[in-house]
Amino acid sequence: MAVHSRIRVILLGLALAAIAGCGGSAPGGAPASGEPYVIKFPHVVAPATPKGIMAQRFKELAEERFPGRVRVEVYPSAQLMEDSDSIEALAFGEVQMIATTVSLYDRLTQKFQVFDLPFLFPDLAAVERFQASPPGRELLTTLTDQGILGLQFWHNGMKQLTGPRPLIEPDDARGLKFRVMESDILEAEIKAIGGSPQKMAFGEVYQALQTGAIDAQENTWSNIYSSKFYEVQPYMTESNHGYIGYFVAVNAPFWRSLPDDLRTGLEATLAEVTQWGNARSESINLEDRQHILDSGRTELTVLTPQQLTAWQEAMRPVWDEFRDRIGAELVNAALAAAQ
Ligand code: LMR
Repeated sequence: MAVHSRIRVILLGLALAAIAGCGGSAPGGAPASGEPYVIKFPHVVAPATPKGIMAQRFKELAEERFPGRVRVEVYPSAQLMEDSDSIEALAFGEVQMIATTVSLYDRLTQKFQVFDLPFLFPDLAAVERFQASPPGRELLTTLTDQGILGLQFWHNGMKQLTGPRPLIEPDDARGLKFRVMESDILEAEIKAIGGSPQKMAFGEVYQALQTGAIDAQENTWSNIYSSKFYEVQPYMTESNHGYIGYFVAVNAPFWRSLPDDLRTGLEATLAEVTQWGNARSESINLEDRQHILDSGRTELTVLTPQQLTAWQEAMRPVWDEFRDRIGAELVNAALAAAQ
């Protein structure tokens, strides 16, 4: 479905979800007596990724702690749907929980684009300080009126560049077709380095790289490894230029419809899983970086400080374009946490 028609559907879904939240029956409503509540949880990455292991652990702990009362159905690797469709499905109550990247919410709020300002966060620890700060916590409830309640943020890792030729100076990106997520700020970032951005769902990227429909892309080590992008990209640059992390959200009317003890118990379980998984995300990415190097399929460029500065300067215009849209106060809060 084209991005714009998807947005129309999302907005319609949000309206329906909001109506349901104002006294209508909750999407997915209470199960028949004796049946468990079913939480459908689709995502697009492989099971052996930070998100994959957290989703699976949440399922296992939730079902163990609430036997017979809840069933969590995790659908990895875009088996059920792609990410943008999952936001729509959440709004409609067709699925109950998602963990799509923060980058995909820009039609619903400009605030999440703070995570995609290039080179704002030097590492995951800086992102975590921001997410734990009061302005960071407030982001979780930004979309509640629209029927989407954020419960946690999950990390993946920092983004790296991959391409058909060495990407050492920003000029090396000129003219290359880069796949980006469906996000305007990421589109602007690629334009800033002279590339041609192509918005595309994650599940289509491998084949598009393989057939040459796109030339290059940006992603974390864990996604590049688990989705085998390194097999079809001969060069990589360790740029750490951005963050990939997830807004773990539930359909708000469904969540409110859960019995209190179940809802609070699931929230505590999710908080525990978040702490467990976020603490592992960096090492998973580093292990996958090593797996890629061991494969001998690609050549890695580690930038010198001067080369890194050139990339930072090249992407800087994105800040001028997006700072006010995001809100200067929020950007400043992120900057303070990133120090
Ligand atoms: C993407 O590039 O679309 C990914 O970041 C998706 C994901 O869930 O990590």
